[in-house]
Amino acid sequence: MTNPIITKTKNFKRTIKIPGDKSISHRSIILGSIAKGRTEVTNFLTGEDCICTQKAFQSLGVEIETNFHDLENPIVKVNGKGIAALRQSETEIYLGNSGTGMRLLTGLFSGLNFMTKLTGDESLSSRPMKRVIDPLSQMGAKIESSEGKAPLIIHGTNKLKGINYTSPVSSAQIKSSLLLAGLNADGVTTIIEPEKSRDHSERMLDYFGSPISYHHGSLEVSIKRLEKDLEAQLVRVPGDISSAAFFMVAAAIVENGEVELLNVGINPTRTGIIDVLKMMNVNFSIVNLREDAKEPVADIIVRSSEIKATEIGGELIPRLIDEIPVIAILAAQASGTTIIKNAEELKVKESNRIATTVNMLKQLGVTVEETIDGMIIEGLVGKAFPGGLDSHVVIDTKGDHRIAMSSDVAGLHSEKAVEI
Ligand code: S3P
Repeated sequence: MTNPIITKTKNFKRTIKIPGDKSISHRSIILGSIAKGRTEVTNFLTGEDCICTQKAFQSLGVEIETNFHDLENPIVKVNGKGIAALRQSETEIYLGNSGTGMRLLTGLFSGLNFMTKLTGDESLSSRPMKRVIDPLSQMGAKIESSEGKAPLIIHGTNKLKGINYTSPVSSAQIKSSLLLAGLNADGVTTIIEPEKSRDHSERMLDYFGSPISYHHGSLEVSIKRLEKDLEAQLVRVPGDISSAAFFMVAAAIVENGEVELLNVGINPTRTGIIDVLKMMNVNFSIVNLREDAKEPVADIIVRSSEIKATEIGGELIPRLIDEIPVIAILAAQASGTTIIKNAEELKVKESNRIATTVNMLKQLGVTVEETIDGMIIEGLVGKAFPGGLDSHVVIDTKGDHRIAMSSDVAGLHSEKAVEI
């Protein structure tokens, strides 16, 4: 296979229907599988991560039908028979590249009375799992790991106990892992975060009728043991704002850019990118506000802009954690110096995203300084990325999809072709 090569464009006018949200797609399979009845999921994300979650539940005996023929609307139907119907998988469960899959399933499987082995690819096997193993162990879970990393062997037990857990990091994966364990634990399981992370689990658990108690915006969430099965639901998955972000930045940085992004999830715990567009003087509008499966959705229009530098940190970080590589591309086109701080979590994503983002910018010819918790980016004031001394720019993504897509966006406004 040859590497993708992106070249400069002068016109970027598109209407794009954004594929389904990854976080919500995972959760729809998980909750559909433990609920009773037929959960129908539309606009499901068919990327490898969510397919691994689908296959995981099929190997536990859940009947799941898929119809992916219409790429505009992939459909999944989950015939849930309740949580007690889940059976030990005959094989180990491979979760590919998916941190969400591994951490959420570890929580759920900790409270189910059978053994499960979870494995992943090289990147996933190097990511920290102690952050869920430790609190789950406090709840009574028995999990074997390779020094805190996958593969994980979970010796499930129905004797978990609810705990009060103050998480040292804002992570929806940790929070969701404990919430799913809490469904099978005695007493109350409470999680308190330093800053609010995405709340898709809370919203969907509520939608499926679970005993969860939380308030939008609050840093604390509690759940009790399931007394009765969750009820199957219709889930229309909103488009993933993290995918929409690439097109937003593309439209903002190219000459004559204008994109209309349809069906974008605008859950406030995910809209840090929108705040940043505002802070950086990007020309955009949000229209057609509506709600699907307890999630706010809208269409977003973004146009070429005179971008201004800003400072990004604090409570904004968990609300835009996956968008930072492409925000770095936006910042590199601004007038002035942009500072990104408090983003140390980036070091434990699919790659060390502080290092891979800084390297991407350097290859594109941007002046950038790596810091312990982020980076400082000198903007090119709208000038196309100059690249280095070679005839074209080569970006090593370290296998990280978000670095690849951010480099694609940069290629649309680069003097030299960008090879990914
Ligand atoms: C996710 C949570 C985030 C995000 C990941 C998906 C989720 O991770 O980076 O892509 O679906 O819960 P953390 O909350 O652990 O930072």
